[in-house]
Amino acid sequence: MTSRVFSKVLAIMDHGGFPKVQKWVWRNIYNLLSRFWRDADWRFMNYGYMAPGDVFPLKPEDEPERTFIGLYQQAVAGLPVSGARVLEVGSGRGGGSRYIARYHDPASVTGLDYSPATVRLARRLNSDAPALSFQVGDAETLPFADGEFDIVVNIESSHCYGNVEAFAREVGRVTAPGGWFTFADMRGRGALAELDRQLAATGMELVETRDISANVVAALDAAEARKRQRIERSWFLRRFMSEFSGSQGSMLYKGLSAGQVVYVAKRYRKAP
Ligand SMILES: C[S@@+](CC[C@H](N)C(=O)[O-])C[C@H]1O[C@@H](n2cnc3c(N)ncnc32)[C@H](O)[C@@H]1O
Repeated sequence: MTSRVFSKVLAIMDHGGFPKVQKWVWRNIYNLLSRFWRDADWRFMNYGYMAPGDVFPLKPEDEPERTFIGLYQQAVAGLPVSGARVLEVGSGRGGGSRYIARYHDPASVTGLDYSPATVRLARRLNSDAPALSFQVGDAETLPFADGEFDIVVNIESSHCYGNVEAFAREVGRVTAPGGWFTFADMRGRGALAELDRQLAATGMELVETRDISANVVAALDAAEARKRQRIERSWFLRRFMSEFSGSQGSMLYKGLSAGQVVYVAKRYRKAP
């Protein structure tokens, strides 16, 4: 039953229905998740990324989160992060911003999220990382000056937005000349052209676009056992958590595996 309701909600959202309601619903979901699941070992809320043979270096304490970090690693690989001012929009529990701050030597990393409870949790979970801060704010009206960042990162967050085009315009505005926008998220196959059109509002040049669905499914498989443990502990929301976390058998997992849902990674560059 929960799965059927969940799939209907996803289908309506995929077709762009009720954007303001969609935004409100997601915000409350993330606020609730951050209030009730405050586990210190849960710093990521993405589906992960695994590429065969791609063994990037990690400290032993970060190994359990390798698949989730993988999505960030592929997002920044080869970009001039050292010394850069980095903004992550939709930073969630902050694990991705923390990874960039600890491994890539940026001048600063600012994580922004519209869920106040999630920002409070991110601050608490990541107080050990250098040059890292978190603040509350909306992706569609970024509270920053023009050209304030060299790199803008956006991972698995844009599907929650009421107006992706407004977000893209804001990214184009806060990115410095010559700067980068690195994006990853999923859409129904039928919504991919619309996503391209929306992101074109950055006014930046599309440098690379990749279908990373197979990498995300590989990561979901690898994380299944750990996820199951958390789902089992969520006794009153077990079905919801199963769908939300993309566990095997969920609508999302099936859609990604069958190609009805596509996970894309894109990079844009602003003219110098
Ligand atoms: C699936 S989580 C991903 C979090 C993080 N990027 C990660 O990979 O762990 C999506 C995040 O986007 C945030 N979000 C959704 N809509 C937003 C908006 N309009 N402005 C800022 N953050 C938003 C949510 O609160 C949530 O923390």
